[in-house]
Amino acid sequence: MLPIDPGLYVASRHIVSGPLLPVFEPWTGKKLADVVCADAATAEEAIVAAVRASEQLARLTSYERKRICRSIADALEQNIDHLAELIAREAGKPLALARVEVLRAVSTFEIASEEATRIGGEVIPLDITASSGGYRGEYTRVPAGPVLGISPFNFPLNLVAHKVAPALACGAAIVLKPAPQAPLTSLFLAELVRKSGAPESALQVVPCDNVVAERLVRDDRFATLSFTGSANVGFHLKSIAGKKRVLLELGGNATTLVHEDAQLDFAAERVTFGAFGYAGQVCIKVQRLYVHAPIAERFIADLVARARAIVPTDPLDPKALVGPMIDENNARRVGAWLDEAAGAGAQVLAGGRPEGPRVPPTIVRIEGSGRGLKIVDEEVFGPVLTVHRYERWEDALAMADDSRYGLQAGIFTDSHTRIRQAFERLHVGGLIVNDVPTFRVDSMPYGGVRDSGLGREGVRFAIEEMTERKLIVYREAR
Ligand code: SIN
Repeated sequence: MLPIDPGLYVASRHIVSGPLLPVFEPWTGKKLADVVCADAATAEEAIVAAVRASEQLARLTSYERKRICRSIADALEQNIDHLAELIAREAGKPLALARVEVLRAVSTFEIASEEATRIGGEVIPLDITASSGGYRGEYTRVPAGPVLGISPFNFPLNLVAHKVAPALACGAAIVLKPAPQAPLTSLFLAELVRKSGAPESALQVVPCDNVVAERLVRDDRFATLSFTGSANVGFHLKSIAGKKRVLLELGGNATTLVHEDAQLDFAAERVTFGAFGYAGQVCIKVQRLYVHAPIAERFIADLVARARAIVPTDPLDPKALVGPMIDENNARRVGAWLDEAAGAGAQVLAGGRPEGPRVPPTIVRIEGSGRGLKIVDEEVFGPVLTVHRYERWEDALAMADDSRYGLQAGIFTDSHTRIRQAFERLHVGGLIVNDVPTFRVDSMPYGGVRDSGLGREGVRFAIEEMTERKLIVYREAR
């Protein structure tokens, strides 16, 4: 691994002293670094520099913005091994999955380089009333202004890229507060952005405490807040965000339905990956599984065998699928939620007891919907899968939709009618047919309804959120 620079670059200054944030490896508990945090004065400097950088970025041609994004994509590609190891160490993500994350971040910046040249508008006829003959309008999209990004620990590169790439592509500077557990990857990304030809301070990464973070959120010099994290924090930040636009990518308790006409082996393989990969620390992990009664016992037995074969492993092991949870507190929380379910009569079929930060892949059989249990109602963000049987497709859809969340859902069936019914009835941002809700490609609109969020990421869609329509009206001189 390359040496870690724990300092910050704010307003072109390399800051190497200030409050320190220790960063630990979740698997070993060893300290990786003491990262410098921004205090209130440093945060103020970052805002002033971001306003200036935004003005410079907005003046660049689309070709220049495209070249910047392309150069960042290339630099990420040249640093795959280093970044994958950094993600594996600081976020506890299995190395193979961490490599996929780096490749996805390359793709996110490549998409941004293409989208940078496609931000256009429309000509609108305005001669639509008796008095507006001879008038014509056209609008284009212009950057709304500096972006404040707040990102979670679970994708410390690609979920950061989903805020940084669209901002740079449309001509807005961004100040990013990374997750305290995993700030090192984004600090390294900031170094690559500095070398990309982007204006100074186009991206400033400012680890900071919650008090400083809230000051940033309240500050009206930011035009947009783009937050990824929990529903409670997201809606709190929205309530203090003032006049800015707010884009919230929040959690979920994603559901998957498996009907008897599905390709069952493939479904079992994908559900295992979607439920347990990276210890379930993914917003679109499979949390609730509804299985059609005629195939339920066979399918569940297959899943149990697959789950029991997976042991939490050092994330640096290239074969690992499940590592630790991000910390012991989260493992204990999952343990307490499992105890609650067991106390209410749910049957633990695989896994169960956390040990330190490790939670084994766990399957819990629940009769009926299980509403009222935290492992059903709340975002578990751990390697826990609840399994429920259903007789009728309508009943499965009703149970699946009975949730405060609505990010993505997956269904496995061969029937066009059932697919249409699911698309109409499930309140989600995205429905994935014949795969798990965990599926995501970085160009697709991504986001949720209900408590799962507001607005959409996916580069083109985030650009829409970070830009505004600006209109010009022409009167023909006669
Ligand atoms: C998330 O956990 O919200 C992101 C999932 C992904 O990008 O695959």
